[in-house]
Amino acid sequence: MKDIVILAVETSCDETSIAVVKNKREVLSLVTNTQIETFEKVGGVIPELSSRMHVDNIFYVYKQALNEADVTIFDIDAIAITSGPGLVGSLLVGVNFVKTLSLIYDIKVIEVNHLIGHINAININNIITYPHLSLIVSGGHTELIYMNKEFEYIKVGKTLDDAAGECFDKVARILNLGYPGGPKIDKYAQFGNDKYDLPYPKNDKTLDFSFSGLKSACYNLSNQLKMKGIEIDKADFACSFQIRVIETLINKVKIAQQQYQVNSVSVVGGVSSNSFLRKRMEKEFSNIIIPNSIYSTDNAAMIGVAAFEQYERNNFIDVQRLNAIPNAEIKEENEE
Ligand code: KG4
Ligand code: ZN
Repeated sequence: MKDIVILAVETSCDETSIAVVKNKREVLSLVTNTQIETFEKVGGVIPELSSRMHVDNIFYVYKQALNEADVTIFDIDAIAITSGPGLVGSLLVGVNFVKTLSLIYDIKVIEVNHLIGHINAININNIITYPHLSLIVSGGHTELIYMNKEFEYIKVGKTLDDAAGECFDKVARILNLGYPGGPKIDKYAQFGNDKYDLPYPKNDKTLDFSFSGLKSACYNLSNQLKMKGIEIDKADFACSFQIRVIETLINKVKIAQQQYQVNSVSVVGGVSSNSFLRKRMEKEFSNIIIPNSIYSTDNAAMIGVAAFEQYERNNFIDVQRLNAIPNAEIKEENEE
């Protein structure tokens, strides 16, 4: 059978990422230019600036991705692009870059949902046994997705307010740890103990999450301690907070695993690169898949992998209709 080679482009937030993926599982190259250094200084992403940086970088990232894969644009069978969810200006840079390539070189385009991309990171280096349950934990989303078979997605749980990653970032800000907060909390927590009395967020039998109560409890506790002139032990605070989030995630995955009788479980998205979460998940679930860190945070390889199913079904988008969809949701099987 002929090899299928897909060029994938991901610019939904603060990473300009382009990959070349062959036959679904083989990542020939992955080049990611992160804007973290710039946004570290201001404590968060500035959307307008992020779009401009994508514009500055995308062509170089593209060239390098082709070079590292040892291919030319004429070897590419289709281009995969993240159309949403994400920051509209950032998404538009990738979308318009892909439109241009498609029109110049007459290459078909596949539109990929960013969250479906995160789930498909599990296919890199793994063969999945179905039914499968995937927990997506990223900066903007916390969702439990049930898959009876490959590429069939049913949302069975979601956050009612903040996403897990967003909560990590906000608590890191309370502790003045800098941006992005998740990796900083991860690092500090390694030197701390669970000494602060914080609540377990929505630790009930449903499959939905809620992190806003825990976030408020962190604000309140830090304010109370400050008013009393008591210095916060950042490592202990990070550790107590992180345990609350991760044990809640584990509890929900356990309930869903039993309810849906799945054969395998995965955790994907930026927060899944958390070292404590990885350790705990591996201990609790024998059939767990957690992508390598470079494939759990935003990257184009996962977008390329996710595009293969649509390639096989000849599901290409008319480039005139291609646009950014900042609030895109996962399309479930029973939807049109
Ligand atoms: O998937 P991702 O790269 O981008 C989105 O789609 O949002 O996830 C980014 C989120 C951020 O909130 C970041 O703080 C969090 O993932 N994150 C972590 C870690 N690394 C990244 N959270 C906890 N521990 C980490 N090591
Ligand atoms: Zn993401």
